[in-house]
Amino acid sequence: MCGIVGYIGPREAHPILIKGLKRLEYRGYDSAGIAVLNSTLKVYKTKGKVSDLEAFLVDKDISGTIGMAHTRWATHGEPNNVNAHPHFSQSEELALIHNGIIENYAVIKEELIQHGYVFQSNTDTEVLIQLIEYIKKSSGSTLLEAVQSALCQVVGAYAIVILSKTDRSTIIAARKGSPLVVGIGQDEFLLASDASPIVEYTKDVVYLDDEEIAILQRGEKIKIKTIRDVEKHPEVTKLELNLSQLEKEGYDHFMLKEIFEQPKTIRDSYRGRINEGNDVISMAGIIDHIDRFMNARRIIITAAGTSWHAGLVGEYMFEDLARIPVEVEYSSEFRYRNPIIHETDIVIAISQSGETADTLAAIELAKSKGAFIYGICNVVGSSIARASHAGSYTHAGPEIGVASTKAFTAQVTVLALMALAIGRKRGTIDTPTFHRLVAELQTIPEKVEQTLGLDKDVKEISKIFTYSRNFLYLGRGYNFPVALEGALKLKEISYIHAEGYPAAEMKHGPIALIDREMPVVVIATNKGTYDKVVSNIQEVKARQGRIIAIVTKGDSTVKGLADFCLEIPETEEMLVPLLATIPLQLLAYYIAVNRDCNVDQPRNLAKSVTVE
Ligand code: AGP
Repeated sequence: MCGIVGYIGPREAHPILIKGLKRLEYRGYDSAGIAVLNSTLKVYKTKGKVSDLEAFLVDKDISGTIGMAHTRWATHGEPNNVNAHPHFSQSEELALIHNGIIENYAVIKEELIQHGYVFQSNTDTEVLIQLIEYIKKSSGSTLLEAVQSALCQVVGAYAIVILSKTDRSTIIAARKGSPLVVGIGQDEFLLASDASPIVEYTKDVVYLDDEEIAILQRGEKIKIKTIRDVEKHPEVTKLELNLSQLEKEGYDHFMLKEIFEQPKTIRDSYRGRINEGNDVISMAGIIDHIDRFMNARRIIITAAGTSWHAGLVGEYMFEDLARIPVEVEYSSEFRYRNPIIHETDIVIAISQSGETADTLAAIELAKSKGAFIYGICNVVGSSIARASHAGSYTHAGPEIGVASTKAFTAQVTVLALMALAIGRKRGTIDTPTFHRLVAELQTIPEKVEQTLGLDKDVKEISKIFTYSRNFLYLGRGYNFPVALEGALKLKEISYIHAEGYPAAEMKHGPIALIDREMPVVVIATNKGTYDKVVSNIQEVKARQGRIIAIVTKGDSTVKGLADFCLEIPETEEMLVPLLATIPLQLLAYYIAVNRDCNVDQPRNLAKSVTVE
């Protein structure tokens, strides 16, 4: 979703701002803009890509050492030049960029119109800057006071940055519900929606908390006040991010790089959490709250999209190993139901970005009812990580491709560790089984490496299905979420309609769709239900559907039936998703490339969905 970059310091601001916007392109956007302060406050913006903005700026005076820039993902008002950010206030004294949604913008707008304010755009953002100007002028307050007062009036989410024509040495920024990070350099400050535009300049950052305002002035230390004027001590943390993690490093796309990183990222997810004898799993979030886990009557997993699929894998794991009943909920549904939540419930919120608005809201709801919240996030310091009582990071490193790949396998790895650790403590898993599973988990990076060897075969298969209009993905048990995930990957990046189903459900409807045009991807590795899945394959064959099967190495039965067979190494049933997902990620990737789709930034999608 929208991206924010800001700079104040001794250097020219615009190259830093434009580079920063490029680093944020992965978030998804439809227009871009920049504001710089020199002899006056200048704003330039345009629909389209950051490269369009660069072209537009070629003959403009954008010199200046203080500025801000924005990529917009449209919510209120279509993507066009006028609705793009920054937005000026009526007198053009102030300019604002904003990420989030001001929910009560219509009421405020109506009042401002009564006071003679005229609006250029259809955005909620313009309403906010007009309100700040109105308060400032009508009450004679300082800009900071006006911002505080305006933010006390608005309902919704925001990360904002404000520049004022009359104060050439200050940036004011604030957040609530949308992330904002301040980088602290040598006599300079950077601001961004995430750390990726900052890491090149400094590793010292301050993550703003909800309702905090940062006042960044040249020659001064960072000051933080709340919207109710309480002074806060800035907590400086060190970024662990490297610049190389934000580059493609020779791959054609970030998505492909991230698929191939999985042997390492899975290892990083369990690294330091398993002792040498394979008999102890140490996860601080569990150890520190062990009573909660021992007494848990139920686990509710809440998430969206791919993270929700990881949650489904987690459901099987927790029920198998820890014998705790699990419910997996879409955050967007959970937050608007009237769910029955007990104090003995554990709510596990899974999110790569740690910023998904629905998951944050689900957490707040569960918290208000006394549940214990455990966050599984990839982005360190993210809102969900901070809103949780405890949690585990997935340590997959920055995921830039909009289609989640390595974050999914890292989430599944963390869930496996958790289920094993809790099962061991609760005594629901015997020692030999525990040892066997823990040892097997540590063979997975090597087996993922082998699975990635299917790359060329998948590329060839992809050519045959480039122009298919529909796909069906089938799997059972642990492989059902894998089927859902495979279908989601294909939809997202190739725009081909795809559905995932539990294989046995096919007879209850989707079988009607099968004809010679319909590719059916079947994950047929299950031990317990192998014969049943083979029967499903027969049913597809009988209707001339074309089968792409994922099987265990050495399988001969399915090989004899399927049109294409991809063999993955044998592993424990609960760990199969970590392998079976890989060829499905590759299949989606190559089909999208064949169709000339924008793999890393698919249309209409955003990397972190910070609005409802
Ligand atoms: C995955 O490929 C998607 N881009 C999307 O479904 C994503 O998983 C979902 O928006 C949840 O995001 P989160 O993990 O950052 O909360």
